[in-house]
Parts: sequence; C-alpha cells; structure tokens
Amino acid sequence: MALRPNLKPDEMLLQVTDEAGKIRWADVFGNDRPVELEIGAGKGTFLLAIAQALPEHNYVGIEWAKAYAEFAADRLRRHGAANARIVHGEAAWWVRCHVPDESLAAVHVYFPDPWPKTRHHKRRLIQVPFLKEVHRILAAGGKLRLVTDHADYFAHMREALAGQTDLRVIPFDSPVALRADAPAGSIVGTNFERKYIAEGRTFFATAAQKP
Ligand SMILES: C[S@@+](CC[C@H](N)C(=O)[O-])C[C@H]1O[C@@H](n2cnc3c(N)ncnc32)[C@H](O)[C@@H]1O
Repeated sequence: MALRPNLKPDEMLLQVTDEAGKIRWADVFGNDRPVELEIGAGKGTFLLAIAQALPEHNYVGIEWAKAYAEFAADRLRRHGAANARIVHGEAAWWVRCHVPDESLAAVHVYFPDPWPKTRHHKRRLIQVPFLKEVHRILAAGGKLRLVTDHADYFAHMREALAGQTDLRVIPFDSPVALRADAPAGSIVGTNFERKYIAEGRTFFATAAQKP
C-alpha cells in the first residue's frame, strides 16, 4: 500500500505575509514542476481531482470564503495531495502581489460569481485589468480556461478577451480526465457544474493562450 505523505492541514493552506512580495513556487513545492492556478476553488473538488490525475504538475487554488478554503485544505491533506495548496484570499489582489511573472502553465476560472446586476458588473473578476495580470503570470504557451453558466457574463468575458491581442482565443479543451462518477455533460467536474447540470443549465466555455 502506498503511504500518504505526512502532511498537516497548515501545510496545505499557503500562508504568505503581505510583505513577502512575489513568491518562488519552487520554495512552496520543493520542485520546479509547472504550476497551475485555480481561482475561486470553492471546496477544492476540481483542484483535488486534477492534482491526483496529473501529479507531474503543481496546483494552487485561491478561495475567498475562509470556511471553503479551510475545507479544501483539509480535503487535500486527507488525500495526501502533496502537489496542491490552497490560499485563503482575494484572487485579484493576491495574484498582483504574490504571483511572479511568467510562472504559470495554466489559470482555471470555473463558474466565477456572475454579479448579474448592472451596477455590480464592476465586481466581476474577468475584466481587462485582470486579463493583463493573467498575461503577466502565464508562461509562454500557458492557457487561461473559463467556464460559466451565465450568458451575459460570457459575452462580457469574450468582449474583454477580444481586446487582448497578446492572449489568443483558442477552443476550450477539458483540462483533466473527469472522474468516473461525473454526470453526463461535465466539462470540468466542479461542484457548481454538478449542481447546474442537475438544474439543466447551459454552459459556456472559452480559453486563451499566451503565444
Ligand atoms: C460560484 S462559486 C464556484 C466554485 C467552484 N469554482 C465551482 O465551480 O464549484 C465561486 C467561488 O469563487 C469564490 N470567489 C469569488 N470571488 C473571489 C475572489 N475575488 N477571489 C477568490 N475567490 C473568489 C467564492 O467564494 C466561491 O467559492
């Protein structure tokens, strides 16, 4: 029987002081493997699945809700997912302060909060300044993957992406083999995807690549 690494919950919850500046992923993971980032990781369902399916990459999930971040960190610990970490924080701020230039192989954003009211659109994560940050942190060839159930937010994402000539829009490809129990219609295997499939919602997906 394979032994799980002896991981403590705190080790899965990545703590970075405000003064730390840009972090070195090799210091976090103890190796130089490619790193992928998920924003709005929720309870860590996608992060755990992809970390287990693709152990040759490292994974970081950022989650704003403390209870979810702690739940996800404990889940990673219970499954011995030594190649994944959770950050409890606000993604746009954390990325700007702590993620080094050209250091990521992929950025995943699945079912981000749509903020449907017009007066709240400015709170949407996918905006031009955020896409500029994505361009900064992706390594050459790195991909941004976006999925939403919200048609208006999807139109807003496409419009924002269309203005970014240094990110090339490409067809969406599923980032990971889905779990055997994923319902028909799954493309990323997150909790919200499962819930929305049950409700019969339509999904919209796009991706972009840094040349
Ligand atoms: C609709 S849920 C989707 C969760 C997960 N991606 C899924 O598909 O099951 C959106 C998640 O993003 C988190 N979130 C929203 N804005 C965020 C931000 N600016 N930074 C980090 N997490 C954020 C929320 O707390 C919530 O857990």
